[in-house]
Amino acid sequence: MADEVLTERRGRVLLTTLNRPDARNAINHELAEGLVRAVEELDGDEGLTAGVLTGAGRGFCSGMDLKAFAARGAPKAVVRFLEDGAAKPLVAAIEGFAMAGGLELALTCDLLVAAKGAKLGIPEAGVGLFAAGGGLLRLPQRVPYGVAMEMALTADPIRAEQAFEYGLVIRLAAPGQAVEVALALAERIARNAPLALATSKRLIRSSQGCTEAEFWAMQRPQIPGVFESEDAKEGPRASPRSGRRSGAAARAARSLALGTRRPAVGRRPRVTPSLREGVTMLSELENLQPPPPAADLEEEGLAAWEASFEHDRQIWGELLAENVERLERGSYSLHWTDTTNSHWGTRVQPSSRGLTFNDINRSKAYGTIPDRADNRNLSPRGSVRAEHRDRMPVLEAYTLLDKYEIWADNVSTLYEEAKSRQWNSTTDIPWAELEPASEDLEKAACQFSTFLSEVEFVAGDFPSRWIYKIPQDFFEVKNFLVTQMMDEARHMEVFRKRALAGGGGLLHASPAFEWSMKAILEAPTHTMGTYLLNLLGEGFVLSVFRAGEFLARTTVDREIFRRCMQDEARHVAYGTMELKSYLENHPDPETALANMHRFADLGEVVLFTSFVDPCLLEPIAVLMGGSLAEIDEGFEGISFLWTTLREEYLQRCDRAGFDRRDRCQIPEFLPGMS
Ligand SMILES: [Fe+2]
Ligand SMILES: [Fe+2]
Repeated sequence: MADEVLTERRGRVLLTTLNRPDARNAINHELAEGLVRAVEELDGDEGLTAGVLTGAGRGFCSGMDLKAFAARGAPKAVVRFLEDGAAKPLVAAIEGFAMAGGLELALTCDLLVAAKGAKLGIPEAGVGLFAAGGGLLRLPQRVPYGVAMEMALTADPIRAEQAFEYGLVIRLAAPGQAVEVALALAERIARNAPLALATSKRLIRSSQGCTEAEFWAMQRPQIPGVFESEDAKEGPRASPRSGRRSGAAARAARSLALGTRRPAVGRRPRVTPSLREGVTMLSELENLQPPPPAADLEEEGLAAWEASFEHDRQIWGELLAENVERLERGSYSLHWTDTTNSHWGTRVQPSSRGLTFNDINRSKAYGTIPDRADNRNLSPRGSVRAEHRDRMPVLEAYTLLDKYEIWADNVSTLYEEAKSRQWNSTTDIPWAELEPASEDLEKAACQFSTFLSEVEFVAGDFPSRWIYKIPQDFFEVKNFLVTQMMDEARHMEVFRKRALAGGGGLLHASPAFEWSMKAILEAPTHTMGTYLLNLLGEGFVLSVFRAGEFLARTTVDREIFRRCMQDEARHVAYGTMELKSYLENHPDPETALANMHRFADLGEVVLFTSFVDPCLLEPIAVLMGGSLAEIDEGFEGISFLWTTLREEYLQRCDRAGFDRRDRCQIPEFLPGMS
């Protein structure tokens, strides 16, 4: 064979390479004849089941060699290839370009694999010709009519990514990987019986443009030859992977194909195969029955999962096939060693606090937070991810995609602080020192603790509603909210323990409070809920804890308030800065501000509902007054505290750029105390 075309056997696959890289693999007589000989080798050798056709150098094939064409006319051999193709399955592996006659060679193949960025086109009209090598027949069979027409009339190429969307390209490969991907696909095909493959291929090709009646008439004479063949009788033994499929599975597949029995219901794929089992599983996938209807399953969740699995299994099945087959070939991918599109070589320096997210984010490559998260998958910010995105799942749960919806400029600092200030309510509170108090004060402390147990419980629930919606690009926020959940868990724990540690116990839950907390949990957006919980609600709690010297009657209570206050200060700081960031960065700031005010008009009333609940106000008044008998004095203290609470809330709003002074629905004075 001439050097213009090279062939190489890879097991049962023949790899054929057009080898005129300096001439962009343009088709001259030698190349055309070499190609036909390669096809003869593929079709004539029983040891071969499928082929891959590719081009050497930067591209697949640029079309006809015009000099050779002018001198000697079109090579007859290429016409033979274009018209007849191969009897056995042939996969085109396209890097760089497949243009004019080059694309028509590819269209003569059964399946096209292309590297991202490769150009595919029929530009002949641009030089006064038309695509005479079958392109005008085969292109509209594989892409929508309008796209084929546009390609022919504009002479403009399309990119591999578009061709993949249209279904013309069946696998999209990373640049340089087209042959590897095509070989994996061809090797997958080559595991099946040759006669069945040839017949399937012929029937699909011939069925284009047939009526149904013509198709059935055409298929009928093919059935005895295939279904009574040795391949069919021996089932899996006919394939090179003989013995990997069970005889029962093969028999089931045959009888299904012949329509002699109904599918058995209830077979399930094994979902955690070992590596070796993976190959068996791939074979099993071919024979897998569709899952039974959901009504047959007792467990609806399992039925839903199976339905999604059915939808996704083709994709993961392909990935599994590609990777297992590579391992079987004894070949390595090593694509992960390619640092071209990575930020390899970044060395980050720790600061005085250690190595913080802020230190890492000084590197522009890793620290640039996008305004909008485009990757709804798990790929980390800063990793090589763009080139894999088309094959990644899309996690629909990630819905907080705009930075302004969740970001706060202080979030990384707050996260570091949260980690360094974790404490343990089991061992860090001097429980043994809890001094006996009067029954009045103990009841008040226990009622306040009951109220706070409810507060902390819901304060932990709120972030959990949003954490799963945050994509990788904003992981700093996700991490911070996880620390808030941990803080709230600890607070719930410490107040529950406080209620029992003094010999009293939990007292009354509060309907008014729980209605207002429900409203927070059901806030329409993350920012609105965060404003209500973190800025307003926790701001209020923070102000109360600050007044701990008037409320805490024991050193244990003082220690509890002191520690909780530090944690709450972080939560309030996040809520304040998050609102600021939202109002400053929203694409329509005027509408955003108007909607936030509209929400706050109601939100303040909601929170006011819980602030005036007797389950909260009265025990605080008893603690401040010093006894139940001095509850009036305590209320005077609360009245003074109320003004402070309201003013601190308004100051936080000011810091967020959210002026509530003229609209605040929380009265200036505690009702009955003006
Ligand atoms: Fe808390
Ligand atoms: Fe909190």
